[in-house]
Amino acid sequence: MRKPFIAGNWKMNNDAKYSAELAAGLAAALKDVTTVDIAVCPTFVYLQTVANALGDSSIKVGAQDVYFESNGAFTGEISTDMLKDVGCTYALIGHSERRHVLGETDEIVNKKLLSVLKSGLLPILCVGELLEEREAKKTTEVVTTQIKAGLASVSAEEMSNITLAYEPVWAIGTGKTATADQAQEVHAMIRKLLAEMYDADTAENVRIQYGGSAKPANTAELMANADVDGLLVGGASLKVEDFAAMIKNVE
Ligand code: PGA
Repeated sequence: MRKPFIAGNWKMNNDAKYSAELAAGLAAALKDVTTVDIAVCPTFVYLQTVANALGDSSIKVGAQDVYFESNGAFTGEISTDMLKDVGCTYALIGHSERRHVLGETDEIVNKKLLSVLKSGLLPILCVGELLEEREAKKTTEVVTTQIKAGLASVSAEEMSNITLAYEPVWAIGTGKTATADQAQEVHAMIRKLLAEMYDADTAENVRIQYGGSAKPANTAELMANADVDGLLVGGASLKVEDFAAMIKNVE
């Protein structure tokens, strides 16, 4: 059985005060939830603030990105050790905004993933097609390439520490959610691909989140799909009521 996993990606939003309030509000609202894994991913500068505000809550902290070198002359970058030092458990890797706005390649994504695995942090590897790729019926091809390249040199054993997130780029921040059927179709394709790349057991155990305009109103429909094991939530994770409602719905 795959335990549902809901993560909030706060992106470049919230100040220190609001980040702490949001974290404390979620910790209080979700204190009795045991059947769903929960994480929030604030911007780097508030990771420590959020970790402190969460206190002994079971909600974990994730970073939105990480660099693949362990230390040295890499101005502006953040290492896995630094993330662990400020209380992170997870790191998002290859979010579409990093790929398409900030120019991250599959090769960089793979290097980041490998360094996160080595560090003991838990990666959430994001993949997803652009609108023009979907319209050109290239979704399977694009997602397959991203997964094969992103997971290069990753062993079956290491797969147990990885979460995948399918995030169709056209659904992110647009209010246009993939339909439950569209999400399920790609999630099932990803699981089949993992069975080919690894084995049936490994594929069966990997959690695959859906992301892209997920909100309280569509949570039940998305999560009802056999291969949708959780959600990566942007906009709707910025308010205690919305994010807590989604998690309670899944619970
Ligand atoms: P959204 O973002 O929920 O605001 O569409 C999702 C994501 O980018 O992870």
